[in-house]
Amino acid sequence: MSAFPYEGQFEIHRTLPEEGTDQHSVLEMLTIMSTTENRVWESGQCSGTMYCGDHDHYDFLNEAFAKFSYVNTLQRDMCPSATKFEAEIIAMTLDLMNASALEGSVPGGLVTSGGSGSIAHAMLAYREMNSSTTQRPNVIKPETAHPAFDKACHLFGIELRVAPVDPLTTQVDLDWVKSNIDANTVALIGSAGNYGYGTLDPITELGAIALEHEIGLHVDGCLGGFILPFGRELGYDIEPFDFAVPGVTTISADTHKYGYALKGTSVLCFADQSLRNSQYFYRTDWSGGKYCSPGMDGSRSGGLLAATWAAMVHLGRSGYRRYAKEIFATSAAMQDAVRSHDSLRIMGKPSFLFSFTSDEFDIYHVNDFLQTKGWRLNGEQYPNAIHMAVTRPQTQPGTVERFTEDLADAVSYAKEHRGEKPKSGAIYGGVDGGPNDEADAFIKMFMAAMMDQQSSIPV
Ligand SMILES: Cc1ncc(COP(=O)(O)O)c(C=O)c1O
Repeated sequence: MSAFPYEGQFEIHRTLPEEGTDQHSVLEMLTIMSTTENRVWESGQCSGTMYCGDHDHYDFLNEAFAKFSYVNTLQRDMCPSATKFEAEIIAMTLDLMNASALEGSVPGGLVTSGGSGSIAHAMLAYREMNSSTTQRPNVIKPETAHPAFDKACHLFGIELRVAPVDPLTTQVDLDWVKSNIDANTVALIGSAGNYGYGTLDPITELGAIALEHEIGLHVDGCLGGFILPFGRELGYDIEPFDFAVPGVTTISADTHKYGYALKGTSVLCFADQSLRNSQYFYRTDWSGGKYCSPGMDGSRSGGLLAATWAAMVHLGRSGYRRYAKEIFATSAAMQDAVRSHDSLRIMGKPSFLFSFTSDEFDIYHVNDFLQTKGWRLNGEQYPNAIHMAVTRPQTQPGTVERFTEDLADAVSYAKEHRGEKPKSGAIYGGVDGGPNDEADAFIKMFMAAMMDQQSSIPV
């Protein structure tokens, strides 16, 4: 077990201190920790996770957050601003998702705590909407769709049917989807784009199937929702994926990813408010008073709504388009670097996020070498692959050149070490060797290291 974070540098608190520490000293410790950790991504070598990476922007959002950080958005009589922020965040996102193309329905939305939250609320809505007609509802997701769907189905007792994807295009097998729909299927799922490969499922075709069977279609735009529309405007070859596609009934789009807001918000868009309303929770006969909440959360910070609203209103379409232009161009240049090596193969038709593998050697040798140069790409499995979600930090001058050079050396390293066991593995997905006892044990150890390190703190 590694040392407890910052052990030896800062005091470890096992109990609530009797006397508090002065504000200045607390802030000094926080500054040291955040400055140290920021260095990991500021170089532009870290895939995804820091979408804006601009400290001026973060300072602006933090200022917006601070003005409402202590406000509970449940108490709307005290904070009408929360209604303004939430309504406008939803309206702007619906507009971006082309809700004006919908006919005969009244679109609506929900601001949730993140991508997993939006996905969970969508699954809950499909279950509730169909509760009188299905015993145990099922949904069909492409294998590549995010595990947040598996989690939501696990939590809500929905059966999850996992459709295979084409190994070359990485897109969902439509025939499989068609032949696995039955009377209890309440929704299909497609990603735009998926976490692993940044590829889009054929949303138009999925929409047609959904319409034919009179079931829902959720498009997971958690990652792509706030960047793909601008990529399309810029002329990149991106298939339609929003409400302009007939049959699309919900879309998740994360403001805390390419929406460049603070961590903690996402928008779930509904083609029709009735679907959203089906998952509202009311308790009218509780002794504590009549209770209702629009989603699973109870109290929420008004600060997150204010900061999300501030990011959107401040950047505007031109700001998002400008960032998208830089990100798409950087991603294309990095993909060119990958394509310049015959031994590397890009998975499917990627976008701002690209993933690559090798048919000649284990790609984790490439990852091992890149790690020594400060790169932090994300690892995948079946097949082993690594991906780079290009965000604004990569658009800094010199990053593409550094990637190109380091990748060339990494390929040479991988060729030299072909046949040996690489040091790195698919962290997000598991460990090499597949879903066996060893992988389960590894995941349990990983969770314990993250959550239970207090037990390792010296008394
Ligand atoms: C495509 C996709 N969907 C859903 C999620 C889950 O989002 P979150 O981590 O905000 O819960 C992610 C996260 O990376 C994602 O890439």
